[in-house]
Amino acid sequence: MQLLDGKLAAQAIKEDLKEKTSALLQKGKRAPHLAAILVGNNGASETYVASKVKTCAEIGFGSTLKRLPEDISEEGLLAEIEELNNNPEVDGILVQLPLPKHISDEKVISAIHPSKDVDGFHPVSVGNMVAGTPTFIPATPYGILLLLEHYKVETKGKHAVVIGRSHIVGTPMSILLSRKAYPGNCTVTICHSATTNLKEMTLQGDIIVAALGQAEFLTGDMVKEGAVIVDVGITRVNDATKKSGFALKGDVKFDEVAPKSSGITPVPGGVGPMTIAGLLMNTYNAYVSKL
Ligand code: GUN
Repeated sequence: MQLLDGKLAAQAIKEDLKEKTSALLQKGKRAPHLAAILVGNNGASETYVASKVKTCAEIGFGSTLKRLPEDISEEGLLAEIEELNNNPEVDGILVQLPLPKHISDEKVISAIHPSKDVDGFHPVSVGNMVAGTPTFIPATPYGILLLLEHYKVETKGKHAVVIGRSHIVGTPMSILLSRKAYPGNCTVTICHSATTNLKEMTLQGDIIVAALGQAEFLTGDMVKEGAVIVDVGITRVNDATKKSGFALKGDVKFDEVAPKSSGITPVPGGVGPMTIAGLLMNTYNAYVSKL
């Protein structure tokens, strides 16, 4: 069993981007710049956004974090996005999800200019991805592709089973793994809450991407010997022994599944750091496309 170490793979990508950024600065150019918007005080969102901003600083990217109150109006948020759309020094814009209930995700995502849509959630980006046109790919599936590539996981002709159909992970992942490309060329099955014979499906998976958001859902009896396991889940579970009061659990019961797998991502330190790497790659590409 090989540990598919996202921290290590992300480090290689970050070092590459850091060198590229330093070369830009030496030529008298400005650094790539990511603007993040965080609405309200969701604890997990705070952690994710802080990590994105911190990583920008590590590699020499500029970043702006706009914190907006939970009760900001939809119009107020759209106005903030418009300002960032019009700022030539901002290359990428992301609005951390989930948003408060009174704000429409669709409206907000559609308000981001497609040339700055580094999350890849805009309908134009999604359409381009489905059409196979170069575009921004959502950061988590992009990071997973980069991880498979880093560890040279063979994907051609494999049966990939994706659990979860979210717009952020499951749906784009299933499209990307079926593309005529590397990593890709898989036969893909996408499973979700209405799938009646899930175990039958997962037992067929040469590659399993677990992205349903249920702690330790995928157990040892659900995977075949030698499968490659990608665990996207990250659920906070109460744990009094931890200083924070919670432990982070993936969608995979690691201790049971790891011995049967040929490769598996840990949680934390697997997909999480790769998501950030994907986002930074998108931000760099947004910058370069304007040169
Ligand atoms: N919430 C959970 N995942 C993501 C992500 O990849 N991007 C944004 N903007 N919000 C998220």
